[in-house]
Amino acid sequence: MNIIATSTVRDLAAGVPGATRVFENFGIDYCCGGHRTLAAACREASLPIEDLTRSLEEAGRASQSGAGRDWRHESLKALTEHIIDTHHCGARRELDRLEKLFDRVCPRHGENRPELFDARKTFYQLKQDLIPHMLKEEQVLFPYITRMEEAAGEGRQVPPPFFGAVQNPVRMMMLEHDAAGDLLRQLRGITNGYTPPPDGCVSFQTLYQALAAFEADLHQHIHLENNVLFPRAVEMEETSAPDFYKSAGEFNEHRCFGH
Ligand SMILES: [Fe+2]
Ligand SMILES: [Fe+2]
Repeated sequence: MNIIATSTVRDLAAGVPGATRVFENFGIDYCCGGHRTLAAACREASLPIEDLTRSLEEAGRASQSGAGRDWRHESLKALTEHIIDTHHCGARRELDRLEKLFDRVCPRHGENRPELFDARKTFYQLKQDLIPHMLKEEQVLFPYITRMEEAAGEGRQVPPPFFGAVQNPVRMMMLEHDAAGDLLRQLRGITNGYTPPPDGCVSFQTLYQALAAFEADLHQHIHLENNVLFPRAVEMEETSAPDFYKSAGEFNEHRCFGH
């Protein structure tokens, strides 16, 4: 796709192979803040737009060997499977690992580095939010999206979901993504951009490296949902579902996703 100043960050992230890595490197939020144009994002970050454009073009050329998949053109079933297999499984594994690393590093370095306790508290909050969030996607939202896609492919209508219309849980998931994004920003601030102190032990350095990698993966994960999966699912429902889906009753969070 053409990389121009008025392209949104979200479209570039979805359409230019390797773009998400470029945005990570430049510190540009492409998942929850993806609605901004490239020009606006560069202005906010005080970055020359030419640098971004050049890096995006280079990333696009480098990926033309076909490494990445263009999820805008794959089935929603394949996309949800990819999100679960890659990002949900990876997040669960890393959340456990990070918790153990915090448990090892805090007692050793917390006295000199009290910010570690703040970071651990913020991390716990993120973990507590993400585990049920992913479960709701896996048990309720993704299976519905898959059923809807199958039905649309066969020219029939899927029975109306108990949550009314797909945009209801999508809206809730996006609010939860925003909250996760806020916690990641807090973590980055507390840890000074995941910079360990020069005298930090190997575990300390490993913890911060793992947190930085976790952040990058969660950005990619949220981008795929916010900017690719969810808009495609909402559009599919709007074009294939009868009117009564759209006029379905108010979404009841507890009925839908209660624990
Ligand atoms: Fe997810
Ligand atoms: Fe999500």
